[in-house]
Amino acid sequence: MNKFITFEGVEGSGKSTQVKLLGEYLTRNNIPVLLTQEPSGTPIGRKIGEILFNRGHQAMCPETELFLFCAARAQHVREVVWPALKVGKYVLCDRFSDATFAYQAAGRGLNPDFIQTINDYCAERLKPDLTLLFDLPVETGLQRAGRRDDLLKDPSSADRFEKEKLDFHNRVRQGYLNLCSVEPERFRVIDASQTVDMIALDVRRHVLGYISRQS
Ligand SMILES: Nc1ncnc2c1ncn2[C@@H]1O[C@H](COP(=O)(O)OP(=O)(O)OP(=O)(O)O)[C@@H](O)[C@H]1O
Ligand SMILES: [Mg+2]
Repeated sequence: MNKFITFEGVEGSGKSTQVKLLGEYLTRNNIPVLLTQEPSGTPIGRKIGEILFNRGHQAMCPETELFLFCAARAQHVREVVWPALKVGKYVLCDRFSDATFAYQAAGRGLNPDFIQTINDYCAERLKPDLTLLFDLPVETGLQRAGRRDDLLKDPSSADRFEKEKLDFHNRVRQGYLNLCSVEPERFRVIDASQTVDMIALDVRRHVLGYISRQS
């Protein structure tokens, strides 16, 4: 199969923008594709996401956060990802297991071995075949996310994660880079401080290179 492609990176690094652009590009080229995201890739996941991102939920402990993301993943893998892979589609997924290691292990300090165990169970050991890591200074990503929230006419709509301190976001960024150094063959690091169009070209180059090596 080998068609499971994930998009990772800190807040506002352009994941959702690029998932959409790549999806449109692949569709124009008659490559069957499904676009999805975590935790809100299913109706149940969207409800879990409302709990996770609610900025009023400052009291949420890291363990609760971990289990909620993993619950959403369990549902998403079974309801959406496996069925699409089984009919031969490329699945472009906006965040997946790497986010759990970056945010809940590197960011929140939970034990990565325990996360591995619970994640393997929830994800049915499904692993991405290719992961694009959108890397940029966290300040730039947060500014972009802030502008996006302004455009939504709700400047106070920053979610529970966007409201975290810079230290937290820097640990997450470093956590992603560490994952990448452990599995360099799976990851492609993309300079996400470029323009949308330049990043889209990088994304296409990496993904088309990957696809052509598969066939
Ligand atoms: N390369 C870029 N340069 C400038 N602005 C960008 C770029 N890519 C995306 N943006 C804008 O930055 C904001 C955040 O982008 P996007 O929502 O794609 O990021 P994200 O990584 O999905 O964020 P989140 O982690 O919050 O889901 C959006 O308003 C988007 O239009
Ligand atoms: Mg997004």
